This record gives sequence, structure tokens and C-alpha cells, in this order.
Amino acid sequence: MSKSAFLSSSIAKKYWMAITGLFLCLFLVGHLLGNLQLILNTGEEGRRAFNEYAYFMSHNIVIKVMSYATYLSILFHAIDGIMLAVQNKKARPVAYAYNKPGANSSSASRNMAVLGSAIFIFIVIHMSNFWWKAKYSSDPMPLHLMTKEITVPVGQNPLTGEAINNTIPVTYALTTKGDYIEYSYIDPQSKKNIDIIEVRDHVKFYAKDKDVLIGEGYKDLHSLTVAFFGQDRTKEGVPANKYAGLAVALYALAMLVLSFHLWHGFSSAFQTLGVNHPRYTPAIRIFGKVFSIIVPLLFAIIPIILFINK
Ligand code: HEM
Repeated sequence: MSKSAFLSSSIAKKYWMAITGLFLCLFLVGHLLGNLQLILNTGEEGRRAFNEYAYFMSHNIVIKVMSYATYLSILFHAIDGIMLAVQNKKARPVAYAYNKPGANSSSASRNMAVLGSAIFIFIVIHMSNFWWKAKYSSDPMPLHLMTKEITVPVGQNPLTGEAINNTIPVTYALTTKGDYIEYSYIDPQSKKNIDIIEVRDHVKFYAKDKDVLIGEGYKDLHSLTVAFFGQDRTKEGVPANKYAGLAVALYALAMLVLSFHLWHGFSSAFQTLGVNHPRYTPAIRIFGKVFSIIVPLLFAIIPIILFINK
């Protein structure tokens, strides 16, 4: 390969790395804002807010297009990064033998490919933890259901004439129209669970034994996430994760790695794109440093709080 072809392809690769990297930073902000609902809102309100957000994210056409752009960017950024690192190594076979690495580049810069690969592995594990389960797993995702004790009159005291009440647990399902509909109840006599509606295609509600579509429900991604990071805690029927402590530690460690990667990557992307201005460059550099600390830190806090909260 001629020297100029190598240079141009190398520069083209760096451009694509910068563009996809900055796009992924935008994704991180959006993803973080959505995930913060896991700790900012509590109880049924928080669960509802998160599941509605997850539903919106997977049904809005613009967001869907952005999601595909995200997947492609992750792949492109990772493959391009590895190719660049290999190319650089080949171009400098004696690497840093005479060239004190610390003298002209920070350790983060030298280790970008290693850090990036670790983040890529994290993303693959992370997507299999949630995204795969929510979208493609053969195990049906739990639905957003809520059980309430309902008081019903079951008779009358013959002496006093007072009503005799009984409480029965009734389960409601949240529909995408925003209302709760009766889903099932425990029959007070037989103590058996009686289904009122029938679920087809994982989320579609039909009147029991009839072909009448009543509405669509939400997948309970909130309970899946809370149970995943929760301390040995079953959440709304989602089994507890025996390895929640390990998961929290792995996520926190991955966020530390992400922080190092962004510390160098953010301002470096602007440099590659040729944004070089005496007034803006220092501001971009400072913004990049703040971004690389705050964003991973907030991401890491989420599993830690879910783990601590009882
Ligand atoms: C530590 C806190 C995090 C939590 C609790 C979390 C939670 C989730 C959940 C629940 C989903 C599934 C959403 C769905 O399928 O509707 C998801 C998807 C995803 N997450 Fe995370 N996430 C975290 C951090 C991260 C980080 C740091 C990255 C990237 C470095 C990341 C990358 C992704 C990607 C690429 C998807 C697929 C998005 C899509 O389908 O559009 N996540 N995450």
C-alpha cells in the first residue's frame, strides 16, 4: 500500500471514529436520562414512568431509526478502532522502545483500544442482560401488573344487619392507553386464581375465551432491571438475581473504564474533526473532562442505589 493511501485511509478511519464516538456520547446522554427514572421516581409511579419510557423508545419511529444508528455506530466504532490500533502498531514495529510513551501521550490515549474493547464486551453482556430479554428471549417478559386488595360485601350480619366484607386480591394490568384494567382475581371461596383476560403475543389483551381485543399491555422492564440489581429480591414475580452484587460491581467497573475512554476520546474527536479554535478548544476540553466524569458516575450510581434500596 502506498504511503498516501495508508494515510488517507487512516485519516478516514479517524474521522469515522470521531463521528460515531460523538454520536454514541449523545446516545449515552439519552440513555442516562431514561435510566435515571429508575432512582428518581419510586413505587408504582416510578415503575410506570420507566415502562412507559421503554415502550416509547421501542415504538417511536424516529427513536427506532436512532437505535439502529446506535447499533451500527457501536460496531463501526469498535471495528474501526481495532483496525486503527493494528495499523498503528504495524506502522511502528518498534513502537515505543525509544519513544517514552508518557512523554507525548497520556496513558488513556495509549490504551484507548484496550479500554474500547473492554467497553464493547460490557455492551454485549449488558444488551444480553436487558435488551435481548426485552425483545427476543423465548422466556416471555413479565407484564406490568399491579395487585390491590379490594373489599367486597359477602353477606349481612343477621343480628346487627351490618354488612360483612371480605377482601380479595385483584390484579390489574397497565395498558398503553394509560388505564388499569382488571386482569385476574383470587376467588374468595375456592382461593383459585381466575383470569379475566387472556394474553396473546406476549402483550395483547383479549376478553377471556373471546376474540375481542381489549388493549395492549406494557412489558415490565422496570421490575426486570430492579430485580437484576436488587439484593436477593424478587420483584413483581421476576426472580431475584443471585449474582446481583457481582453485577453491580461489574457495571461500576465498566463505568470506570468508560470514564477513562471518554476522558481522552471526547476532546480528541473534536481535534480529529478539525475543531481547533483558541477560544473553543479549551472549553471543549473542559466540557469533555466534566462529561467523562459525570456521565459514567451517574450511570454507576443507578445499580448501586438499586442494590442498596430495600
Ligand atoms: C448502568 C446503568 C445502565 C442501566 C440500568 C441500563 C439499562 C438498560 C436497559 C433496561 C436496556 C433495554 C432497553 C430496551 O430494550 O427497551 C438497555 C439497553 C441498552 N443499553 Fe443500557 N443501561 C445502563 C448503562 C449503559 C451503558 C453505560 C451503555 C453504553 C456504554 C449502555 C448501552 C445500551 C445499549 C446500546 C442498549 C440498546 C439500546 C436500544 O435498543 O436502543 N447501557 N440498557
